[in-house]
Amino acid sequence: MFFHHIPDSQAIGAHRGARSLAPENTLPAIARAHHCGAHFLEIDVRLTADGHVVVFHDDTPARTTNIAASPLAARATHHIDTFTLAELQSLDAGSWFAATDPHGTVKTGEVAPQDAASFPSVIIPTLRQVLDFCREHAFPINVEIKDHAGRSGDSAITAAVLELVADTETRDLVLLSSFNHRYLTQAAVFDPDVPRAALIETAHPGNILDYLMFLDVAACHPDHHITPPDLARALLDDGLRVNLWTINDPDVARAYPPGAGIITDVPQRFV
Ligand code: G3P
Ligand code: MG
Repeated sequence: MFFHHIPDSQAIGAHRGARSLAPENTLPAIARAHHCGAHFLEIDVRLTADGHVVVFHDDTPARTTNIAASPLAARATHHIDTFTLAELQSLDAGSWFAATDPHGTVKTGEVAPQDAASFPSVIIPTLRQVLDFCREHAFPINVEIKDHAGRSGDSAITAAVLELVADTETRDLVLLSSFNHRYLTQAAVFDPDVPRAALIETAHPGNILDYLMFLDVAACHPDHHITPPDLARALLDDGLRVNLWTINDPDVARAYPPGAGIITDVPQRFV
């Protein structure tokens, strides 16, 4: 089980791979996350028009690919789920990284110049490729299911993700999460033994503990901005696992109880 493979005390998760060191959600970012000693990986997944699960964060390819300069330029702001896998993998998903300081996290002393300079032939990976890497390296992985624009909440992506998890023999390493909690309840039916985490980005209006129990999740992944340390402690005391995102400042992390994990753009700063 995922939680048996990570420490009980401040587990460090690499957000979209080590996204301060390499283009987010690509194989180089994932390899760097593992190499720098992160305890687990966090990635985002989406379904393509032809039913493949790809590792990608945004709704559209505009920000993290070269689509604007490609033959697909006219579709730069179209949703990922309108592209086939072949179309998405025809794009360069690495060169944008060198041209930007994407999130203010790439700073001197953390990134060798050659890292920031060149990711010339990087493509959008499939979930299968990433799960193969995780199995090979026994690297725990948090798979975040992003919403499918046209068919929000339908079960196609949940089924496809769990099929890949079973196929790649990574059930022992995977934690599923989503902001769309319908995917979590579907997953509980499809494969109850794969643990689930509820992503939370706004303060819950009622009793969050009751809600999480109702969802039957093993973990809560809240935005740290809406999670005072006392709330994290209460969740832990209630037997839930907690991973806060996105914390890049060790002083912010230190305010939380040791049992809380963090998901960070800069795992190299914490491990
Ligand atoms: O899973 C934590 C975090 O990744 C949620 O936000 O937008 O980076 O996927 P986002
Ligand atoms: Mg995510």
